[in-house]
Amino acid sequence: MQNDFTFIIMGATGDLAQKKLFPAIHRLISKNKLGNDFSIVAVARSEFSNEQFSELVKKKISGNEAAWKTLEERLYYQKLDFDTMEGYENLGKFLKKLDKKRNIKSNKLFYLATLPKHFKGIAKNLKKFGLAEETKKNWCRVVFEKPFGNDEISAGKLNKEIRKVFAENQIYRIDHYLGKELVQNIGVLRGANRIFSPLWNAENIDHVQINLLENFGVENRSNFYDQEGAMKDVGQNHLIQLLCLTAMEIPKQFNAKSIRDEKVKVLKSIRKIIGKNVVLGQYEGYTEEKGVKRNSNTETFFAMKLFIDNKRWKGVPFYLRSGKNLGKKFASIYIQFKEPNLSMFKGQEILSNYLVIQIQPEDGMLVRLNGKAPGEKLKVMSVKMTFCHQCAFGPNSPEAYETLIHEALDGDQSVFIRADEIEESWKIIDQAIALKKKPIIYSKNSFGPTESEKMMKEKDREWFNKSENVVQGI
Ligand code: BG6
Repeated sequence: MQNDFTFIIMGATGDLAQKKLFPAIHRLISKNKLGNDFSIVAVARSEFSNEQFSELVKKKISGNEAAWKTLEERLYYQKLDFDTMEGYENLGKFLKKLDKKRNIKSNKLFYLATLPKHFKGIAKNLKKFGLAEETKKNWCRVVFEKPFGNDEISAGKLNKEIRKVFAENQIYRIDHYLGKELVQNIGVLRGANRIFSPLWNAENIDHVQINLLENFGVENRSNFYDQEGAMKDVGQNHLIQLLCLTAMEIPKQFNAKSIRDEKVKVLKSIRKIIGKNVVLGQYEGYTEEKGVKRNSNTETFFAMKLFIDNKRWKGVPFYLRSGKNLGKKFASIYIQFKEPNLSMFKGQEILSNYLVIQIQPEDGMLVRLNGKAPGEKLKVMSVKMTFCHQCAFGPNSPEAYETLIHEALDGDQSVFIRADEIEESWKIIDQAIALKKKPIIYSKNSFGPTESEKMMKEKDREWFNKSENVVQGI
């Protein structure tokens, strides 16, 4: 249980804080994970009294009234304009006053849920006003939201700047996919199951697909999105993280250093991407969206084929694909095994095995096997074996931000991104961007430009275009 801390949320009126962070805190309280001795200090530019701000937050919270009461009693609002000194000075005084009232010197977790352009300035000013200091008894940590940088160079510069203020062990760069239950399950699936670990290599695996498909457009984020595009928005972070967790060597120990060392080794082994292995797309009507430049060349879809040049993955392609306004919404890792030995089943069409780690909508896992058709002599048919997360553990599994806040309070950096890791992952996206490919227009509700299918067809492969029914396995 976490105790004696002050959680300071910078950018507390923004969407992320309102929709994700406060509900996550409420859920942690409901589950008794935060103890009693903590305060939440919400910081933003607008003028609010504590009561007015509580009312705003309450709108986003549902259920467990007692937990809301606990949160409300510990919630304070502080006005701060990120570019002016006065606010930081006041924040410093306020935090001291709060400690005095609670008669403790509290640990501090800063969460920068602001626009990235404020990261450097906030870090600098926290130092200037003595708010970033750790002592032997008290920790001070800072969470940085994404996007962290815009390319390898800017991420490197930002790392340098924030490292003038915080040591790496104080810095928590977030990727909310790392907080998802099924993503956290990848390491366990691989490390704790003898039936998978010997097969996890080029000898047995034909290819891997990592899909994050969405059936909605850019919604109200068009200004931001139009400057980023799909590769920067979700490729550099979520998809590449999933690739790392799937491909890395199982670390000798399950701790932040070993896990992150192994992920960096994967990133450094990714072969430089070439033009024919990247397809970009833009959905029809994108340039008419409010906030999008009329001649925008921003991609709302990408598909890429990557190779990892090490012994384990020699010649095995990793296909990454994501896009907006597609025909389905799901996120999964699909692992296609090589053809089974068919010598005893001559004349029958037998499908290869696959394993799907389904992150959403229903989280679970599914393996396609071959079995005998009932009654018939040696007629083979494919069957599915499933693990439905919710059926096994109930509907109350922690949500990503709940897990990540808890881990940051706990000081576990294994589900956060290290400086070198973020720079290496940008390098891959920078290479793809440097190819200067033009996005191909695709219809809404499709699976992106047909060119992405061609990328697969070369070897008779197909994109995995569905979410599995992990409850029934049909
Ligand atoms: C965010 C992206 O990081 O991830 C969004 O900025 C995307 O564009 C979202 O929609 C997907 O996250 P989730 O958890 O809804 O799959």
